[in-house]
Amino acid sequence: MSERSLESKPNILITGTPGAGKSYLCERLSTHLKFNWLDCSKIAKDHNFIEEFDAEYECPILDEEKLMDHLEPLMAEGGNIVEYHGCDFFPERWFQAVFVVTCPNKTLYDRLKGRGYNAKKLESNIQCEIFGTILEEARDSYKADIVYELYGETKADADKSLKIVKNWYSMWKRK
Ligand SMILES: Nc1ncnc2c1ncn2[C@@H]1O[C@H](COP(=O)(O)OP(=O)(O)OP(=O)(O)O)[C@@H](O)[C@H]1O
Ligand SMILES: [Mg+2]
Repeated sequence: MSERSLESKPNILITGTPGAGKSYLCERLSTHLKFNWLDCSKIAKDHNFIEEFDAEYECPILDEEKLMDHLEPLMAEGGNIVEYHGCDFFPERWFQAVFVVTCPNKTLYDRLKGRGYNAKKLESNIQCEIFGTILEEARDSYKADIVYELYGETKADADKSLKIVKNWYSMWKRK
């Protein structure tokens, strides 16, 4: 008999460079899987889990401890899809799978330019994608066999990603 109760659900992390297509996928995933979508950037903004503002990169600096205190009771419930553009500070035990969304540089550049990012921010995010920084961060922070790469360029990519995650969840339930 498995120690896991029949109703329990896993927690999934969706990470990747800003603009790679995490929210686009999470919105679809949360509907299909009936999981809660926890967009950490939005939560941090709504609850003011912000340490300071980085003027150079024009972005708020996350208060990781406050965010994690907020998330801990939710994670204990299971059934969450957590979205964030970083992954090394979350407790490893929270996630049963980590999906890294990646996107070709040209498309990513256009998306971030469209958001009005300044040159420095644009360059650092594009470099992050070129060097596969988040994929490496995920592989360094979680067991390699729970880290998966997904593509986030087109609608077809998102449809495929949806299938991959749904398949993963079906397998997880059968374990
Ligand atoms: N698979 C996709 N097909 C077509 N367009 C997409 C896809 N994924 C994302 N986009 C578009 O690209 C833009 C950025 O996507 P999204 O907001 O999902 O990025 P993100 O990874 O969540 O970024 P952030 O880290 O800032 O939260 C949006 O305009 C979105 O509609
Ligand atoms: Mg997002």
